[in-house]
Amino acid sequence: IRSITLHDLGKMRAAGEKIAMLTCYDASFASLCERAGVDVLLVGDSLGNVLQGQNSTLPVTLEHMVYHTASVARGCKRPWLIADMPFGSYQESPAQAMHNAAKLMAAGAHMVKLEGGAYMAETVRFLVERGVPVCAHIGLTPQSVFQLGGYRVQGRTDESAADMLADARALEAAGAAMIVLEMVPAQLAATLTTSLTSMATIGIGAGASTHGQVLVLHDMLGIYPGHKARFVRNFMLGAESIEAAVATYVHDVKNGGFPLAEHTY
Ligand code: KIV
Ligand code: NA
Repeated sequence: IRSITLHDLGKMRAAGEKIAMLTCYDASFASLCERAGVDVLLVGDSLGNVLQGQNSTLPVTLEHMVYHTASVARGCKRPWLIADMPFGSYQESPAQAMHNAAKLMAAGAHMVKLEGGAYMAETVRFLVERGVPVCAHIGLTPQSVFQLGGYRVQGRTDESAADMLADARALEAAGAAMIVLEMVPAQLAATLTTSLTSMATIGIGAGASTHGQVLVLHDMLGIYPGHKARFVRNFMLGAESIEAAVATYVHDVKNGGFPLAEHTY
């Protein structure tokens, strides 16, 4: 099997083929997701919630992320593999971010993801110039949940929507190849997607217009006991196996069957 490259993802973006992304934390699920056709696997710091039972992602450490990234990398070959930089591992300085991104890349990541807007552009550029592809993440950024005042939709006012567009443009100019838009009104996500020239937008609770979709694995399998957000669909309903549920997710993302208006803000 050939590994998906950044070039392949750019071609998918240009051709309008939707990018199907899921979170993944271990080798067995990595292998299953690969068989089901998932294009991109994200070792998300959501593992704090779904594996560790924390009520936020803030307690997740770099060591946790390295352990799970290495596990996922051993389980698959084809998917593009992104690892989240955990809270406190990149915000101090570009040098701190590079030091810690190198550990995730050495564990098998192909790209690192970090949260934040235009203020992170300098760090994004520092990493990209040194060979580390970067996925940005704006909108609802869970590492800032205590600053944001909860898990709520972002960019509802004209001012915050304009800020988000400026953030996305700054991150793209700094070299980010991909950006997660989390809990953003569908209309704003569509505007962002058409306003960017090279960066691929990946939505979670951001409507159907983005270049791709991502969900947390435990959410889309219906096995997370916590809060179920509006943007989640349980793909196990009616599926005969976990692999079939993941394959249906991939199919629905590619064919416009997910997300629907009911999953959208
Ligand atoms: O940690 C995570 O699972 C994420 C996705 C929700 C994008 O960052
Ligand atoms: Na995350």
